[in-house]
Amino acid sequence: MPDRTNEKKPNEKQRTTAEAGRPGLLVGVFQTLATQHAQLAQMFSELSSNPEQRATLWPRMRRELVSHEHSEVRELYPMLRQFEATRALADRHDEEARDLDALICRLDTMDIRTAEWMGLFEQLVATVLHHAKDEEEARIFPLAQDVLGEARALELDAKLMMAKQQLAESN
Ligand SMILES: [Fe+2]
Ligand SMILES: [Fe+2]
Repeated sequence: MPDRTNEKKPNEKQRTTAEAGRPGLLVGVFQTLATQHAQLAQMFSELSSNPEQRATLWPRMRRELVSHEHSEVRELYPMLRQFEATRALADRHDEEARDLDALICRLDTMDIRTAEWMGLFEQLVATVLHHAKDEEEARIFPLAQDVLGEARALELDAKLMMAKQQLAESN
């Protein structure tokens, strides 16, 4: 009689990323995007703790944020919209991305030297961090990686980085 004891043991390779639920297990495009989130969070806290340097710090941060978000909207989410399991998440993502754009536009119309600007900036930070950590890293990316598979996650990485570069140059 064959020994079936091994079949009952959880096999690390068969465990899906969604089950594991840890950003550390993300690969390719998902790992790159999670790393960009960490870089954005770092830039945000630099500006929050050095508000007197906001006029210098904000333009680069704005460029990084806009090119990050727009490259996701352009390269990743249309692909996720093709799968039933991730379609609704993709639609919701793009709605949140439009809300972020609207917040950035409002900041653009305000005087950067004012307390009101700083207040709205803090609101943007909270919105972006919720979007990146609670939505993308915790819910969307693990599921998306399972749906797309690791090979496509790796392939998409280069496309997304190229799109981000182009967007950064035009913003
Ligand atoms: Fe996003
Ligand atoms: Fe993101």
